[in-house]
Amino acid sequence: MALRPVLRMGDPRLLQRSQPVARFDTPELHGLVRDMEDTMHVLNGAGLAAPQIGVPLRVVIFGFTASPRYPDALPVPYTVLINPLLEPLSDEMEEGWEGCLSVPGMRGEVPRYRHLRYRGFDACGQPIDRSVEGFHARVVQHECDHLDGILYPMRIRDLSRFGFTEELFPGQIVADD
Ligand code: NI
Repeated sequence: MALRPVLRMGDPRLLQRSQPVARFDTPELHGLVRDMEDTMHVLNGAGLAAPQIGVPLRVVIFGFTASPRYPDALPVPYTVLINPLLEPLSDEMEEGWEGCLSVPGMRGEVPRYRHLRYRGFDACGQPIDRSVEGFHARVVQHECDHLDGILYPMRIRDLSRFGFTEELFPGQIVADD
């Protein structure tokens, strides 16, 4: 098991555009995914992108059955998504609270497309093609933003809806990130 340090907002590596994966089903790629899984699970994250551990490749993982960080969210199947392509299925946007392992202890309200089709590949190179909505669509958009150097605070429209988790949600048990 290999835990990797998660870069925090302010580190310039989080602002870079990541490169596509050229070869699938390699020991290096499977090792990267394993390290990302270990790191995400220990930190109770809903998702993690490779650049968050300093690897500038277009690899994200996400999914949970019950997330202590998002107690009201429906389960999202555990997914490894590589070289993703995102396509909104309608113009409808929805505001929702997000956190990020690279912005620990904070939450912000972020607009995302409600209906989303995403395509890509798993670590073995098998194609993935799904149409999703709601929190599932939100998580995918959040993680894939990392691949283009975008952190969720950069998308907040009303900065009065951005702050420390403990102050925004007093008395609620929200896992620290
Ligand atoms: Ni994030």
